[in-house]
Amino acid sequence: MAHVSIQEVTKIYPHGNELAVDKVSLDIESKEFLVLVGPSGCGKSTTLRMVAGLEEITSGKIYIGDRLVNDVPAKDRDIAMVFQTYALYPHMTAFENMAFGLTLRRYPKWEITNRVKEAAEILSISKLLNRKPRELSGGERQRVALGRAIVRKPAVFLFDEPLSNLDAKMRVQMRTELNKLYNKLQSTMLYVTHDQTEAMTLGNRIAVMHQGVIQQVADPANIYTHPANKFVAGFIGSPPMNFINGRVIRRNGKFYFEEGAFRVKIVDEMVPKLAPYDGKQVTLGIRPESIYDKLFVQYAPPENTVTATVDVVEPMGSEVYLHLLLGTHAVTARVGGHERPKVNQDMDLVFDMSKVHFFDPDSEAAIV
Ligand SMILES: Nc1ncnc2c1ncn2[C@@H]1O[C@H](COP(=O)(O)OP(=O)(O)OP(=O)(O)O)[C@@H](O)[C@H]1O
Ligand SMILES: [Mg+2]
Repeated sequence: MAHVSIQEVTKIYPHGNELAVDKVSLDIESKEFLVLVGPSGCGKSTTLRMVAGLEEITSGKIYIGDRLVNDVPAKDRDIAMVFQTYALYPHMTAFENMAFGLTLRRYPKWEITNRVKEAAEILSISKLLNRKPRELSGGERQRVALGRAIVRKPAVFLFDEPLSNLDAKMRVQMRTELNKLYNKLQSTMLYVTHDQTEAMTLGNRIAVMHQGVIQQVADPANIYTHPANKFVAGFIGSPPMNFINGRVIRRNGKFYFEEGAFRVKIVDEMVPKLAPYDGKQVTLGIRPESIYDKLFVQYAPPENTVTATVDVVEPMGSEVYLHLLLGTHAVTARVGGHERPKVNQDMDLVFDMSKVHFFDPDSEAAIV
């Protein structure tokens, strides 16, 4: 299996007026599952298509294994790509669809049969091989499309939002299947999606992209707990992190974050990084699960307790999302499924200050 090295790769489309991909550098290790995630239009597909050889590179270098592939045609790159639209041939059976690429490459018949059967086994579609695409469900069709890639035994798999045409339930199921598939195949995989849940659950590492630029590359846990900047912090996590603009103040040697009547104490461990911001603006970030209902907190430090008004209550079953108004700020808290506060009721909340993040308001980089 091969590693992929993307080095300072830029893409400017001839008729586009901006940089679609801006000096992206990214290394996908051999046998790694790397997910490239970001909002629509950020340059994910363009990056993937340049690796695949379907899009010309404006500048920079791409290596697959030790081979510079900038000028290697797509068919000679030893990659297989799975797209959002499975694009199966409607007049061919699942078997023929999966075999097609190998037939074109003039593989011997016995080898084709073996490979298709093996892939069908892995994907649990052995019984469907004689069916035409119209006789298959969306999930089954996507399996055939995956099978078509697997039979090639490529050095690298490239996926461009392969699950986004499926309904929500099927998407979750196929996500699990993809995880299993990766464990079985142990191949190098580069997977593009705009869905942060897919990114978190599938990736060994995640690369977050925004406006053609890679914002951070890290494993899912680190992306979640140590986002490098405000964009990553807001993009990964659902419901998203709450942001409040305010300033750092110092009273009697202690540091606080203050915004209007809202004031919380900064924990000692964060003071060294925040002391230089004394008197200056910062953005506080807190995830919904780090805001607690005071009634359920055994020891609630008064300096981290704030009062908010309940605006909307969203019961999700095992938990409840509370949309609250904290002065002029809208914040979301994620509390236990048993909680049912009333709309317009006042509620005391405890901010878990050991879990908050602070961002520089100008650069948006994480301070701590
Ligand atoms: N053929 C093209 N010509 C000109 N501009 C293009 C072309 N293809 C894409 N772009 C532009 O390049 C940027 C990146 O597009 P790209 O398709 O890579 O985004 P994406 O991250 O895959 O988005 P999505 O999640 O919607 O698929 C966008 O601004 C898009 O409008
Ligand atoms: Mg795309």
